[in-house]
Amino acid sequence: MKTFRLQIDGRETDIAAHSDTSLFASMTRAGVAWPVSCRNGTCRTCIARLLQGQVRYEIPWPGLSPEEKDEGYCLPCVARPMSDVVIARA
Ligand code: FES
Repeated sequence: MKTFRLQIDGRETDIAAHSDTSLFASMTRAGVAWPVSCRNGTCRTCIARLLQGQVRYEIPWPGLSPEEKDEGYCLPCVARPMSDVVIARA
């Protein structure tokens, strides 16, 4: 397991984001509120813009189109960090 920094655009506090847990889990552990519902990558309630960094998914096809991935959207409930990450509400 590696630990990266998760930043939410516009907030000054960094969150420790572990490579083996979702960005949403890291936010929850840090006490940061984020919209969430299904927690399995299908409903898109948690959708965010990935402004910096890389994530990976434990499920084969999270609820994002290839175009949305290319445009920098991510689903924090199932996205796990592969580097330091900066996200923003979509
Ligand atoms: S909470 Fe449903 S896709 Fe993330």
